[in-house]
Amino acid sequence: MENEKTRILAIETSCDETAAAVVENGRQVLSNVISSQIELHRLYGGVVPEIASRNHIEKINPVIEQALKDAQVTLDEIDVVGVTYGPGLVGALLVGVAEAKAISYARSLPLVGVHHIEGHVSANYIEHPELEPPFLCLVVSGGHTNLVIVEDHGQFRILGSTRDDAAGEAFDKVARAIGLRYPGGPEIDRLAREGDPHAITFPRAKIDGTPYDFSFSGVKSAVLNYLNQHKMQGQEVIREDLAASFQQSVVSVLVEHTMRAAREHHMERVAIAGGVAANQGLQSAMQAACAEEGFTFYHPSPIYCTDNAAMIGVAAYYEYRKGTRHGWDLNAVPHLRLGEHL
Ligand code: KG4
Ligand code: ZN
Repeated sequence: MENEKTRILAIETSCDETAAAVVENGRQVLSNVISSQIELHRLYGGVVPEIASRNHIEKINPVIEQALKDAQVTLDEIDVVGVTYGPGLVGALLVGVAEAKAISYARSLPLVGVHHIEGHVSANYIEHPELEPPFLCLVVSGGHTNLVIVEDHGQFRILGSTRDDAAGEAFDKVARAIGLRYPGGPEIDRLAREGDPHAITFPRAKIDGTPYDFSFSGVKSAVLNYLNQHKMQGQEVIREDLAASFQQSVVSVLVEHTMRAAREHHMERVAIAGGVAANQGLQSAMQAACAEEGFTFYHPSPIYCTDNAAMIGVAAYYEYRKGTRHGWDLNAVPHLRLGEHL
């Protein structure tokens, strides 16, 4: 068994990316196909669930075929089917789950349902073959902000979460307010490189008594107030400075909480994951803080930070090795909690 190859076909359709990948032995990505619906949703300034589901149905088969083709394998050479079954948009998740069930039933292959956040965390294993739990991971995406100790594969201890908006959501909302297109995170990231992060002082949200929790609605409101005031007074807003200052305020809280958690929980390895982990400002601030503290810092390449199926294949592999198997009754679970298995 140990010397045998385990090839996983992984499927991810939790939000606005239709993705499929083939992953061998947990860390070797043989293919990673992502069909993004961003252009379709941009018109509405955010993800429209019904449009997402419909588009997943159209794209899922060609995306899987492409993933098999790129990996130069056929379904006969696949050993396990892995799929995201939550959290996410229910109609979107259902497309991937139904597809995965159909393939595993038709081919008599084991089916492994994966938690989307476990997938994001696992993205770190792809390019860091030496990385093994335990480590601390900050998960920052469009829907989630969690500071977690990865105790073992598939075993998490959540230290902190957001009380309101997710980090990516805050980026998207601020971007929209200054006229940037959806998704706003990469746009703010780009603009921030040309601005002064100290030009405007925005609040750094802290919650009394819970040092690891986050709150981003305060900084978001402060940005909106700043914009309104300037508009009323007919003053010009320097968008580069605003983007840089906003980003700085979010990044500094993320880094501060993560460093504190690493120190207090004696974690020498610190990782970041999720769409916002692609942020240049966050990566460099986290890198610098880790260097100062003597921690080793890990982050995935941008393509593995935002939604993809390769990370689901990695997580499915470790779940499979632990004995996780799902039946034909596997359903989409929009509010699935981390560490919970249904
Ligand atoms: O992980 P992801 O693809 O989807 C979810 O699971 O939510 O994350 C998408 C989020 C969006 O909010 C997007 O604006 C943000 O990640 N994002 C970024 C960057 N790239 C994507 N935020 C800040 N800087 C970036 N470079
Ligand atoms: Zn995601």
